[in-house]
Amino acid sequence: MIEPVITGWQRAPELTIVIPTLNERENIPLIVDRLNRVLADVAWEVIFVDDDSADGTADAVRALAHHQSNVRCLQRLGRRGLSSACIEGILASTSPYAAVMDGDLQHDETLLPKMLARVKAERLDIIVASRYAENGSVGNFAQSRVVISDFATRLGKMVVKADLTDPMSGFFMIRRDAFDAAVRSLSGQGFKILLDLFASAPRPLRFGEIPLTFRERLHGESKLDAMVAWEYLMLLLQKLAGPAVPVRFLLFAMIGGLGIGTHLFTLWFATHLLQIAFPVAQAVATVTAMTGNFLLNNVFTYRDRRLRGRRLVTGLLSFYAVCGAGAVANVGVASHLAGGHHSWWLAGLAGAAVSVVWNYVMSSAFTWSVRPVRLRESLVRDGGGSVLVDKSAGGEPVEAEGRGERMGLVMNDRVGEDPARARRGLEAAGAPAAV
Ligand code: GDD
Ligand code: MN
Repeated sequence: MIEPVITGWQRAPELTIVIPTLNERENIPLIVDRLNRVLADVAWEVIFVDDDSADGTADAVRALAHHQSNVRCLQRLGRRGLSSACIEGILASTSPYAAVMDGDLQHDETLLPKMLARVKAERLDIIVASRYAENGSVGNFAQSRVVISDFATRLGKMVVKADLTDPMSGFFMIRRDAFDAAVRSLSGQGFKILLDLFASAPRPLRFGEIPLTFRERLHGESKLDAMVAWEYLMLLLQKLAGPAVPVRFLLFAMIGGLGIGTHLFTLWFATHLLQIAFPVAQAVATVTAMTGNFLLNNVFTYRDRRLRGRRLVTGLLSFYAVCGAGAVANVGVASHLAGGHHSWWLAGLAGAAVSVVWNYVMSSAFTWSVRPVRLRESLVRDGGGSVLVDKSAGGEPVEAEGRGERMGLVMNDRVGEDPARARRGLEAAGAPAAV
């Protein structure tokens, strides 16, 4: 590795490069080395926003930061999320221009000076490195990935009105005032920060594109799995449905509909093929449908609060209780309406509607409740001034004991503090290890 060329770090940086990282330790020195080469003529800094990677990525960043003060680390504890990492990284900087780039060398850093020059010369709000612009390329993407990415791009274009060739790109540079104007409307969910920015900007963004050839990953592995794609779909649906209809409720209701199918099928199977007495078969079918719905909701509807291990069992029991009460409410409402000479199907539907709303509200409060994280005072003290409680932070909110206040936790970048100790403290306090 070459010695860092420390250029202009005495000046406030003009460009901040925000790099979200999750288990990218081996890539850190390589990236900084490349940035040093290509940005020799720019006053720049890089902020790695690390979600407490188990491989010690944050330590690798801090080790470099000891030698080069334009390298910074923002370490977040008990949090996950590519979008929120990018947002908080930009918020932690003061530069008039911020770029977001992957931490795995798949993005061509030699584009950075060109992007900066074009944003300035063309007075753009944002410039996007696009794999689908003329001369761009997805590189050696697996075929399945190309298909998924293509599909996601099409969907994305329905939400952003701008004619972007690559709304899924994770590589762009934005002018600070354009970012500031949109930041309070960003959803911060999932990994589609660019789409979010375009969809949330108060006025159409003046954008440019620059062709990108996507490189192959050398170290580590991709974190975008099928479930990330699912979250993306949820984000799009939410933007399309509008804030009045929670997509989570739609999913819950759809799975509820599937449950009716499960119930009927089990009932038929038990009475016709197994010759079981009807009351017993009905009971078996009810439990089967509830259990199936519980598992599906756990994987899809409440993926971000997914229950595992012992909590899966207690969650299932509480789901039975919630649905049991829902069934009573259902029968009560339906019988009342039917008694009042309403048509039988209207009464039945009203009863079902009452129970689905009941089940949704109660199960989100009891079965998949947001677990309070008990922040021990000692932990806050241990971190000195560097544990920052940030109410506006995205990601899964946690609650502080006794105050009933929702807050996210951001661990800031003090060289010399001990993140492992803080992590142990959080784990001992029952914080989810990975959200
Ligand atoms: N802080 C943080 N938190 N960083 C994350 C998280 C997270 O939850 N998940 C992923 N990252 C980091 C990775 O460490 C990497 O630096 C970068 O975000 C991109 O993640 P990859 O896992 O390498 O994504 P990819 O290569 O599969 O996807 C890329 O291409 C997509 C287009 O198909 C990314 O550029 C995406 O942004 C892009 O949409
Ligand atoms: Mn990647």
